[in-house]
Amino acid sequence: MVALKTAGEIEAMAAAGAVVARALAATRDAARPGVRLTELDEVAHAVLREAGASSPFLGYQPSFAPAPYPGVVCLSVNDAVLHGPPSHYALRDGDLLSVDCGATLDGWTGDAAISFCVGRTSAGDAHLLERTEAALAAGIAAAQPGARIGDISAAIGRIARAAGLGLHTDFGGHGVGRTMHESPHIANDGRPGRGLTLRPGLTVAIEPWFLAGGQDAYLVDDDGWTLRSADGSRGAHFEHTIAVTEDGPRMLTGPVARPLAREGGPGPRFC
Ligand code: MF3
Ligand code: CO
Repeated sequence: MVALKTAGEIEAMAAAGAVVARALAATRDAARPGVRLTELDEVAHAVLREAGASSPFLGYQPSFAPAPYPGVVCLSVNDAVLHGPPSHYALRDGDLLSVDCGATLDGWTGDAAISFCVGRTSAGDAHLLERTEAALAAGIAAAQPGARIGDISAAIGRIARAAGLGLHTDFGGHGVGRTMHESPHIANDGRPGRGLTLRPGLTVAIEPWFLAGGQDAYLVDDDGWTLRSADGSRGAHFEHTIAVTEDGPRMLTGPVARPLAREGGPGPRFC
């Protein structure tokens, strides 16, 4: 059952999405070498609290998870790419960090993720980050009224394959609304012209995650949450919640403001 949202409901979702975008920007700004992941979770939590929003991540326990999720953000470092719980790990120069955040405001939810390097960005990481973000943009661009779910999936999968990046169809996009995970599922690969027809009022999260090693195999840590590449290569993850409208896709969780370049710090493009 796919629930279409009214224009007013989409506005309410955009308000929740704006909180997500602010929390992600604040988390990225705070992510420096030496900072612990638990401190970043606190930064995001403060943004949600100040906005009067709650976290759909905190305490969430989907069927695959052995324990409730312990944070308001997922913080996945280097070969970890999804669902990393906030740990006491202190970030190091050159780490690739993926931050996934949700917020529920006035009963409506937004879900988005960004990836970036802390400090220096290697050429390999820059390529992985740029192609994964490009896949998100292509997936969003495919979310036109009258198109199909498979068009979004195919747009994402095509970019991973062309770039030689690892791609897995587990943990793709999903409907978002009153709750974080609704129908339909949006695999990160598929055939154009197949699947549900996209109608105005459909609200979904689109979330490509790619692995630099070109292999799709992944492992899950003993914590039951952290998903990392089997080959040890780095992963990247970008996500936005969008609405399909008569005029095309509308981003509800952003854009996430880019920080200004810092002296001696990363350039403005990826970090
Ligand atoms: N963007 C992630 C997803 O859709 C958010 C879930 S993280 C969790 O799967 F920790 F809350 F499970
Ligand atoms: Co999501």
